[in-house]
Amino acid sequence: MAVMVTGGAGYIGSHAVLALLDAGQEVVVVDNLVTGFDWAVDDRATLVECDIADEGRVRAAIRGYDVDAIMHFAGSVVVPESVTDPLKYYRNNTAASRSLIESAVTEGVRHFIFSSTAATYGTPEKVPVAENDPTVPINPYGMSKLMTEAMLRDVAAAHPINYCALRYFNVAGADPEGRSGQSTAGATHLIKVAVEAATGRRSHVSIFGTDFDTRDGTGVRDYIHVSDLAAAHVAALDLLRADPGSSHTLNCGYGRGFSVAEVLDAVDRVTNMTIERKLEGRRAGDPAELVADNSAILAALPWRPERDDLEGIVRDALAWERKLAERDR
Ligand code: UFG
Repeated sequence: MAVMVTGGAGYIGSHAVLALLDAGQEVVVVDNLVTGFDWAVDDRATLVECDIADEGRVRAAIRGYDVDAIMHFAGSVVVPESVTDPLKYYRNNTAASRSLIESAVTEGVRHFIFSSTAATYGTPEKVPVAENDPTVPINPYGMSKLMTEAMLRDVAAAHPINYCALRYFNVAGADPEGRSGQSTAGATHLIKVAVEAATGRRSHVSIFGTDFDTRDGTGVRDYIHVSDLAAAHVAALDLLRADPGSSHTLNCGYGRGFSVAEVLDAVDRVTNMTIERKLEGRRAGDPAELVADNSAILAALPWRPERDDLEGIVRDALAWERKLAERDR
């Protein structure tokens, strides 16, 4: 029996692969390597290089490796790009997920774990935001993921498959053992940008918006360590296998927020440097504050945050960034 991990050569997927392997699971990765890297896939896993929408090859892999569960990370993740190229997001996220879910149902896969996002909430009416609060995405990225959640709900009602949609807040950091990290060039995520600045890959960090209604005027987010997030996937898999009649939608966050200025202060402390900051206008579509109500995941899973420490997240992200810089030298 094996777990299929789509997007297992990418940032979060590669950490889930490590968590699954460390838990003794057999893993088959399906990744088209458009944004992922083959070297990011641990040697203990099998890599099938193909698109998740290639139903012939995906179905053959499900049969060949006796896959009972799929963790689905593959997709496009850049919010501003989703605004300028929405059809790319409805193709890579929504339509490709439909193909993958059909392959799963046809081949009798019993469990499905889906990378969803806090972007499904749009601009929340209240913070912390809970799973039953309104989902009104304000960009095609969030909508493309919400549509996949809807497909899963309907498919689980009609077929013998259960699912867990995990709505990620702001994922950051890297494997504490240095086995994987965020490797995508040109990232837009705050902590990645800041550690790139700390290692000389960028001259400065732009602060997008200083007039939000927050404690210091900069945007507040719930940063979760990628290894804690990976562990939540393993716990969700255990739950789906133990209780095949149940499906779940769960926020993945720590339930507390840090402002952009607080994150950059943490980076300064960890690096013992003063990262240059440039104050700029707000980015389109950025809510002031996005923090998870995480009571549902704490009730549903035995999972508990183990790396809820902003400086620790920055330290792990920085260690990986230094490794990348070393490799490029
Ligand atoms: N920010 C800056 N400067 C930067 C980058 C970001 O000031 O160079 C600010 C943003 O304005 C925001 C905060 O830092 O206030 C976090 O921004 P990120 O780009 O790191 O992340 P987002 O909150 O915009 O989005 C992330 C993921 C999405 C996901 C969303 C859900 O990128 O995929 O979290 O919470 F949908």
